[in-house]
Amino acid sequence: MLEKERAVREKLAKYGQEHLLLKYDSMSEKEKETLLEQILEIDFNQILELYENTKKKIQLGEDKIEPIEYIDKNKLSESEKERYTKLGEEIIKSGKLGFITMAGGQGTRLGHNGPKGTFKLIGEKTLFELICDTLKEGKEKYGIDIPWYIMTSKENNNDTVAFFEKQNYFGYPKDCVVFFKQGELPMISSSGKILLDKEGYVKEASDGHGGIFEAIVKNNLLEDMKKRGLEWLFIGGVDNCLVKMCDPLFVGLTVDKKYMVAGKSLVKANPAERVGVFCKRNGRPSVIEYTEISKEMAEARDANGELLYGEAHVLMNMFNIKALEALKEDKLPYHSAFKKAEYYDENGNWVVPTEPNAYKFESFIFDAFSYLDNMLIMRVKREEEFAPVKNAEGSDSPETARKLYNDFIATRK
Ligand code: UTP
Repeated sequence: MLEKERAVREKLAKYGQEHLLLKYDSMSEKEKETLLEQILEIDFNQILELYENTKKKIQLGEDKIEPIEYIDKNKLSESEKERYTKLGEEIIKSGKLGFITMAGGQGTRLGHNGPKGTFKLIGEKTLFELICDTLKEGKEKYGIDIPWYIMTSKENNNDTVAFFEKQNYFGYPKDCVVFFKQGELPMISSSGKILLDKEGYVKEASDGHGGIFEAIVKNNLLEDMKKRGLEWLFIGGVDNCLVKMCDPLFVGLTVDKKYMVAGKSLVKANPAERVGVFCKRNGRPSVIEYTEISKEMAEARDANGELLYGEAHVLMNMFNIKALEALKEDKLPYHSAFKKAEYYDENGNWVVPTEPNAYKFESFIFDAFSYLDNMLIMRVKREEEFAPVKNAEGSDSPETARKLYNDFIATRK
């Protein structure tokens, strides 16, 4: 232990992060051990680099950006739709499709007390249950139990699992539900100091939805997926209550066109909408974020009056297991987000911010697209598949999502 403590103190001194031991002396032996382990796992050079990157302006630089091709689901002929749907149904029925819900985010904007998926949106139904309802429909239609992987974080994993237990997995077969934890990274202050949480440990936050690839590998899920005979994984977020995970047409179209990765897109509501859009970057599929795109590009239209960069990426993607396997070797870049975070500063003051005050680092799932030569993009209708719950009120809030959900359900009656 003494040896470990010495190593930690040396490391902290080297990087000017000595305050991380601020609460050390008042900790029990076990807590001390945990903290030391936590600090030893930090890659301080990486933190330094991430901090330096926060000072750089995000820009497209030399990247060559072009519009990307997509297939509009609603422009397919009836016979095409039928053919792709039939092919997709065969794949689903033969047990080759699995689902992943990414539920490791912090949900800071919503401010719900508990994992975002446990937020009650429609009557007593939570976001998790609404997603599960669509999966159960799959069972009714195709007669098979489809494996459902749920990505959680260190912060919300126990609460998520306990919630599923309490709800008896909404009647979904328990052995088909697999929880797995994503990684996390320390948060830092605007002066580059790593934050301490209430207990005196390093304050960490989940490392973004792009952390999914590493988490799949770390949790040996590729083996589990193969054992279950899965070949395709639909990956969606927890906070879109209309996400259509079990979509035979999407599966069939992807397979028929021989793609290994596919994404659904929606037409941007207006050029200024704060969503990323699909594009080609240096000849490869990519997503430009709304913070990156110039006004000119965002407003550019083609001869038919459609936005050239109008295919919004809203976390509805499907990966072949071979693509997941290939991607496991590739490192995704981290982006910084400036968020509100409570913490002990280096002088031992507990900081309760009213404005964003700390950096969180995240990788994004769509950065993986740039490792692909190509991918299928299928445009779907916003009102059929997108009702996000992001903010406590205003746009993309429970109120707007509830309305979108109810409107959609009404069209199906
Ligand atoms: P958002 O990027 O909207 O973030 O996540 P969030 O964490 O839910 O909310 P804020 O930004 O703190 O308010 C989109 C989807 O990606 C998942 C979320 O759970 C949500 O389903 N996600 C995000 C993860 O699974 N892990 C992460 O590290 C980040």
